[in-house]
Amino acid sequence: MFHYVINTHHKVSTIRPEIYGGFSEHLGRCIYGGVYVGEDSAIPNANGMRTDIVEALKKIKLPVLRWPGGCFADEYHWKDGIGDKTLRKRMVNTHWGGVVEDNSFGTHEFMEFCRQVGCQPYINGNLGSGTVEEMQEWIEYITFDGESPMANLRRKNGQDAPWKLKYFCVGNENWGCGGNMRPEFYADNYRRYATYLRNFGDNRLYKIACGPNSADYRWTEEVMKIAGKQCNAISLHYYTTCGDEWKTKTQATGFNEEYWYRCMARTLKMEEIVSKHLQIMDYYDPEHKVDLIVDEWGTWFDVEPGTNPGFLYQQNTIRDALVAGINLNIFNKHSDRVAMSNIAQLVNVLQAVILTEGEKMLLTPTYHIYDMYSVHQGAKLVDSWIETKEIGIDGFRSPNLHESASVSDDGTLNATICNLSPTESAHICADVLGDGYRLKEAFIVGGAMGDYNTFEKPDKVQVQPFTDCKLEQGRLMDIQIPASSVVRISLEPLGIAEK
Ligand code: AHR
Repeated sequence: MFHYVINTHHKVSTIRPEIYGGFSEHLGRCIYGGVYVGEDSAIPNANGMRTDIVEALKKIKLPVLRWPGGCFADEYHWKDGIGDKTLRKRMVNTHWGGVVEDNSFGTHEFMEFCRQVGCQPYINGNLGSGTVEEMQEWIEYITFDGESPMANLRRKNGQDAPWKLKYFCVGNENWGCGGNMRPEFYADNYRRYATYLRNFGDNRLYKIACGPNSADYRWTEEVMKIAGKQCNAISLHYYTTCGDEWKTKTQATGFNEEYWYRCMARTLKMEEIVSKHLQIMDYYDPEHKVDLIVDEWGTWFDVEPGTNPGFLYQQNTIRDALVAGINLNIFNKHSDRVAMSNIAQLVNVLQAVILTEGEKMLLTPTYHIYDMYSVHQGAKLVDSWIETKEIGIDGFRSPNLHESASVSDDGTLNATICNLSPTESAHICADVLGDGYRLKEAFIVGGAMGDYNTFEKPDKVQVQPFTDCKLEQGRLMDIQIPASSVVRISLEPLGIAEK
């Protein structure tokens, strides 16, 4: 029996909806074939955007979407992707498979996709190979309402009114694919580029500086020291891999228990990495003016056999569902400082929430976690603690349980609990401190550790009602969580007459 305490009296912080954000790069079949098929496609679409994808993303309330990269961002020249599509420049996507990029999906198309989904755009600018002028003009093109060369060009290209754009990042992974810079050099460049990113009219940019790779604490220190006063946030990237070395990839499916445990331990590193970067940020920014955003995270496994290695197309199992559940719990718990997260990536790439094959599409186990967790968006994180035991193998240990809990505006308490053991169920006894509750609903995403959805069997893993949960006297909960599963339990406050 594991003891669980949820103290609804203590509201810790607001979970910003943007923690549930996505990332879409010009990589493999994420944009082309995934998000966008073109107006003339036989696949149902609206203005070229896949209708099935738009509807699926609306269901999970995708709040924000990052684009166009990734490594692609630092070789992307936005002017190649506007105007008459038949005249747009074709280029080589040198990072991802050396394929031809025809630029048919550009700024207007991205903004249209965000409009259809109802999410905020987050654009990543090109610092690595682009000029200050180019970046400055992109903001002018998107957000300026008055008379100017860029605003006039936008109008000529069919968009009269400026768009609203808040989130803008100055370069991507500039410690690596974005120019192999040293933090001091990047930070000085950040200051220079960011100076020219203007707030036009009532549009207010939220400027994001390229943050560290995983546990590179020196990068955070230097960027905060040199550019901390000029940015609203810095971005962290951390991927979950399971090989002996961080860069060694392992199988996405057909893995054994050892590789399950490796994955759990590696993904839990996010907690340590986020906490340590925040400590450094706090030293340089004691007033917490600069947020941390985690704009790339997720599993990175071998590509599916027979697919282009440069396309990063991988399958997605119950193990990925646990990775999603754990990381989202971590971000919820740090919601006082973590303002956004963007899982990599949206469709057909890495830990995708959706996979497509021609006109077919399937929702991955990861998607179902986003579906179940969407109730946390905008809710108040409350104090919670769960008793655990240690599980795993030598070198890869983890607790068996992981959770977070929040109270939404209508008073509903939502607790999301992950059982990290691939073999043992967990009997939990929860004490809910508060005004008294009744069970509203409960759901589970679970199965055998390697289960996944295929185009032949797209619903093998899905959200199911969860019934192994009883609530007594409005506060004592008895829960039996199966091995390798993620559960959401929702309680609603008792009416005055019931108390
Ligand atoms: O998400 C795939 C790649 O991972 C991104 O392009 C890059 O930023 C990171 O290294």
